[in-house]
Amino acid sequence: MTQKKPLVIVTRRLPDAIETRMMELFDCRLNLDDKPFSQKELIAAVKEADVLVPTVTDRVDAGVLAQAGPNLRLIASFGTGVDHIDLKTCRQRGITITNTPGVLTEDTADMTMSLILAVSRRLTEGVKLIKSGEWTGWSPTGMLGHRIWGKRLGIIGMGRIGQAVARRAKGFGLSIHYHNRRRVHPDIEEELEATYWESLDQMLSRMDVISVNCPHTPATFHLLSSRRLKLLSERAIIVNTSRGEVIDENALARLIDAGDIAGAGLDVFEQEPAVNPKLQRSDNVVLLPHMGSATIEGRYDMGEKVIINIKTFVDGHTPPDRVVEAMF
Ligand code: 8YV
Repeated sequence: MTQKKPLVIVTRRLPDAIETRMMELFDCRLNLDDKPFSQKELIAAVKEADVLVPTVTDRVDAGVLAQAGPNLRLIASFGTGVDHIDLKTCRQRGITITNTPGVLTEDTADMTMSLILAVSRRLTEGVKLIKSGEWTGWSPTGMLGHRIWGKRLGIIGMGRIGQAVARRAKGFGLSIHYHNRRRVHPDIEEELEATYWESLDQMLSRMDVISVNCPHTPATFHLLSSRRLKLLSERAIIVNTSRGEVIDENALARLIDAGDIAGAGLDVFEQEPAVNPKLQRSDNVVLLPHMGSATIEGRYDMGEKVIINIKTFVDGHTPPDRVVEAMF
């Protein structure tokens, strides 16, 4: 007797090859027009699905999970961050969660470096000047930015992505400093020539560049609070490719407006897709639409991970990328 295929509901469009494979393996319902699900649509999906494949644009909160049908046993998220899913309620309801770690590390670290360079060397302002047709030619004092070689980079969150940022930054001549819940292995510190700061406050006040690379959890919400942001030097820049919620975005906008820090590079925002208008107006701010992991290769690898997680789970095994609350 052939086993009934699980009903897998995917909330957004995924790469073609991934969707094709999913259709072969599962009874799969795709979102062909790619319009993000409303909470109502999400509830309808969890009522029916055996497996839900959400993304960062879905809020799988306690209200949604309360309406989940008895068949919903797995949430196989397409992405690494899981702050859009209520982990505690999932545990209480016996729903397994998986994510896609590892495969977007290098791409996200590349984007972090891009933002560090773009802000320090005024890339978007330069592009704007050329496109406006107002460039009158080279001048010794035109478009001056700041050298990054020899400066101090403070990484908040020294996990996979933080370490990949450090590796790149070292190549650009930045010295590596970090703050993390716990110190990383001495071998890694040695490889990266990294200095550990137990006190985030002390690190913030001494850095030229700050990079946010920690996950968003209840403990890191507004970790960079208004008070902490004020510890930054007025020459400092800050980049964030993690989650907007880690920084108090309004406080950051006020600081930038007042010229109390040199600039910011943000790929993520507190209320995506809304962006604080003060940030949009500032020239020394580079803003990107959450594209840290947006490479064709990365999205394909993420999709493959989702498939493997679902397949192992429905075959009765522990999926490789199972997420549990204790990890955060
Ligand atoms: C993903 C991300 O593209 O994986 C993450 O945590 O932030 C992004 O790079 C997005 O979350 C997909 O759901």
